[in-house]
Amino acid sequence: MAIYAIWNNKGGVGKSYLTFQLASEYARQNPEKKVLVVDLCPQANSSSMLLGGMSDGERYLTRIHTTQPRRTISGYIEDRIRSPYMSPNSGGDYVTNVSQLNYRVPVNLYLVVGDEQLEIQASRVTSATFPGPQDAWRITHLWVRDLITDILTSWNDEDSCVFIDCNPSFSIYTELALSAADRLIIPFSADGSSKRAVKAVLSLVYGIRRHPGDRQSDYYLESTRYRMALPAIYMYIGNRLTQMNSSSASAFKTVVNEIGDEIWGIWQSSPQAFCVHPHGSPTPNSKRAFKVMFQYEVNDANTASVVSGALGIPIASLKAGQKDFAGRSVTVNQPQLDKQVPNITQLVQNIE
Ligand SMILES: Nc1ncnc2c1ncn2[C@@H]1O[C@H](COP(=O)(O)OP(=O)(O)OP(=O)(O)O)[C@@H](O)[C@H]1O
Ligand SMILES: [Mg+2]
Repeated sequence: MAIYAIWNNKGGVGKSYLTFQLASEYARQNPEKKVLVVDLCPQANSSSMLLGGMSDGERYLTRIHTTQPRRTISGYIEDRIRSPYMSPNSGGDYVTNVSQLNYRVPVNLYLVVGDEQLEIQASRVTSATFPGPQDAWRITHLWVRDLITDILTSWNDEDSCVFIDCNPSFSIYTELALSAADRLIIPFSADGSSKRAVKAVLSLVYGIRRHPGDRQSDYYLESTRYRMALPAIYMYIGNRLTQMNSSSASAFKTVVNEIGDEIWGIWQSSPQAFCVHPHGSPTPNSKRAFKVMFQYEVNDANTASVVSGALGIPIASLKAGQKDFAGRSVTVNQPQLDKQVPNITQLVQNIE
């Protein structure tokens, strides 16, 4: 069992879209496993896609958000604000079997629904837990790990895999996600500011200073103080590769490679921050081997991507043809699907 956080300190890079696609595809490829998505973003975008997209997904979200008890991530956080230091073992109450609401996703896919209340709870998490016992920071940072443990226990520890969609900000709930995860997937888009964002991830999570003398994050310092494991870098994904023409494709590759070089530099000084995979693989001993193991690309599938998210149909099961949504009819064509489906399929084959 592995727990993956999908995070970058930058908005709009495809965290939620990839969470939706990767979790759905992982569930399809591994029907014998249970797959859990924990949506730790107040925007609840991956929840919306999983639950059926713009129309059905949003309707279900509203229903879930207005039903008491609130079966969302915020319902569980509320339990923890009431019982910060003692696990209430209530995590199993907060799971939704996605296929009961959206038949397009595999039956073995489960979700802890995202909730905008997280934003309001964030400051209460801090005020409810500090001051507290000496290791209040450590206990609080294990809340989401406790939630996942409860759910896995309710599944009798069946073989499973967990994906956590994160908010771009390095807020308390992102910290809880990172402390729950054993592995980190970093998506980025190929624009000029992506390199800076990836450097921010490396500095906030792993304490890698951008400039000599820079202060390290409390998250890094406290995790180290309490000897808590940091999530190990598992993949970085150049997302939304556009192939309009060969020059845009090569511009994209240049940015992806630049970022790859940056991360390769970290590998050379801190290989313990990475998760060599698949299990049993030899440790990469060249930049080329490093990139084969850690660097991935996902193409922009244009209309097919929009339709996939808007209708909550995982891209690997989306068929070409006319699709209706938001009162309009659009055409998904096969070449669009052929651009992205092989990327997602292959990427998921590399997720253990
Ligand atoms: N590979 C892709 N091809 C086409 N569209 C994509 C792809 N990846 C993401 N998108 C689209 O890009 C937009 C931003 O993606 P998404 O919402 O997943 O980003 P995010 O990182 O979760 O953003 P936020 O930081 O706001 O949570 C969405 O409209 C999504 O559908
Ligand atoms: Mg998102």
